Amino acid sequence: MGKIIHVFSDMEELSLFFARKFADSIRETPDEQYFSLALSGGSTPRKVFEYMALHFREKLDWRKVLIFWSDERCVPPGSDESNYKMAKESLLDHISIPSGNIFRIQGEADPVVESSRYAEVIRRHVGAHHNIPRFDFLMLGLGDDGHTVSLFPDNLQLFGSDKLCEVSEQPVSKQKRITLTGQIINQAANVVFVVCGASKADMVARVIEKKEGWELLPASLVSPGEGELLWLLDKGAAGRLKPEE
Ligand code: 6PG
Repeated sequence: MGKIIHVFSDMEELSLFFARKFADSIRETPDEQYFSLALSGGSTPRKVFEYMALHFREKLDWRKVLIFWSDERCVPPGSDESNYKMAKESLLDHISIPSGNIFRIQGEADPVVESSRYAEVIRRHVGAHHNIPRFDFLMLGLGDDGHTVSLFPDNLQLFGSDKLCEVSEQPVSKQKRITLTGQIINQAANVVFVVCGASKADMVARVIEKKEGWELLPASLVSPGEGELLWLLDKGAAGRLKPEE
């Protein structure tokens, strides 16, 4: 399926759209079925979580939601660097979701061991499609360098890994990360990029309009074969896109 691009005046409008789409998808999920959601790290996803905690706490049945992460820094869960801690503080502590529905990546564990363990956790709890677990909703951010989750331009080969999860490294800090790989990202039913700010405008245009060097960017390789790809942008992030014909 192709990509759909929505441009919003601000993060509040973007977050409302995200939350409504998410809530509608859950309402459409049969009662006896869980809905699997993979969360991303980053300041933009955090804004969406805070909005949902404020306005969608009671508007959906969180008991139907299984929460996973698309990547995690290899730090303890109490670290300010932890994507789990960020999601816990901005969303999970404010909604009625059973603790058994939350599957955090154990950033404190040995990275190689944890990447295998987490892949098994996903296989056990997320329904497969063509033998690859298929997330119902997978949220992504976009880095200034075109990275997404913790797949960076200088370790692009990890995108094509035959594993579901890999150990990667932040290119500057050398911080170890656990990340989903391309095969599980591109298997998801709904892949949603949430990007805000004029600082991302060049990168958004490079990826979406396939400008020079686009093929070297991990975000460019996100293309859910049988799923929907949504780009939710604020005006700043969409600032370099060609006006629609
Ligand atoms: C992380 C994220 C990363 C993030 C982007 C965008 O662990 O940091 O997975 O991919 O989503 O860097 O982050 P911002 O929205 O803060 O720019």
